[in-house]
Amino acid sequence: MSQDQAAQHPLARAVKEPPADWSPQGIDTTVPSIARVYDAILGGKDNFPVDRAVAEELMRLAPRGRQSALYNRALLGRGVRLMAQQGIRQFIDLGSGLPTASNTHQMAQSVAPDARVVYVDNDPIVLAHGRALLAENDHTTVVTADFREPEQVLDHPDLTALIDFDQPVALLLFAVVHHIEDDEDPQGILAAYRDRLASGSHLFLTHFVTHGEETAELEKVMLADLGRGRFRTLAEITTFFDGFDLLEPGVVYNPLWRPEEPVADPLTLTERLVAGGLGRKP
Ligand SMILES: C[S@@+](CC[C@H](N)C(=O)[O-])C[C@H]1O[C@@H](n2cnc3c(N)ncnc32)[C@H](O)[C@@H]1O
Repeated sequence: MSQDQAAQHPLARAVKEPPADWSPQGIDTTVPSIARVYDAILGGKDNFPVDRAVAEELMRLAPRGRQSALYNRALLGRGVRLMAQQGIRQFIDLGSGLPTASNTHQMAQSVAPDARVVYVDNDPIVLAHGRALLAENDHTTVVTADFREPEQVLDHPDLTALIDFDQPVALLLFAVVHHIEDDEDPQGILAAYRDRLASGSHLFLTHFVTHGEETAELEKVMLADLGRGRFRTLAEITTFFDGFDLLEPGVVYNPLWRPEEPVADPLTLTERLVAGGLGRKP
């Protein structure tokens, strides 16, 4: 067989081009991961059959679930651009998820090229994919850590290399606090972050909203398949802003947070699935 023929052999191609379900080292592809299930819901490619099965189950219960995830990403974009326009130059994105279409650093740096962004996620796949995306961006990094350990996150050398805690910081917690149970003290965790932030810092947080029977099954599947998932009321979500001045319009369903286009009334369940708000530390 000539060299050319060898290169054309199907087996040679299989070695050169990893199969579609190739996974980076250290990633368990037999257990669904929150980051990869969310990626599958968004229509991304960084997921495996086990993740897609959970995504499909969730979308069976909430057929427009992808739209809800897109509202969440759209709000992230509005919030990050707004804070950058208002002069914030440091962003900590907790539970950042896998890179997708418009990421925090791209939105912040589109307004302020010198904006610094630290992504934090406890799923190592986020680091694996983030590294490639950020190879040439000196102002952005990815830290693998559990945000329930505020000290470990805030004192991480890769984070302190970029973040100056004497200056205002934007703390982003998009669609992640609902993965924390009540007995894990989400309020206490948030207070630990708040206490380290300078005056003028901001907290932007979004969270699944309970609608009783309408969302009970969805919550059950998240608990069963991902091990975590706690839907909360708007009042409960508002308590996460303790110590911050909640800015207009308060904690509202995602599409209603300072919309750039008119929003049809009444909202559908998809539109009421996630709510968010922005607070400023006095
Ligand atoms: C639903 S995704 C949200 C991604 C992104 N923030 C967004 O809103 O588009 C939740 C992310 O939080 C991460 N996560 C869950 N629990 C975490 C924890 N204890 N510490 C750090 N990250 C966590 C998951 O790995 C996942 O990437």
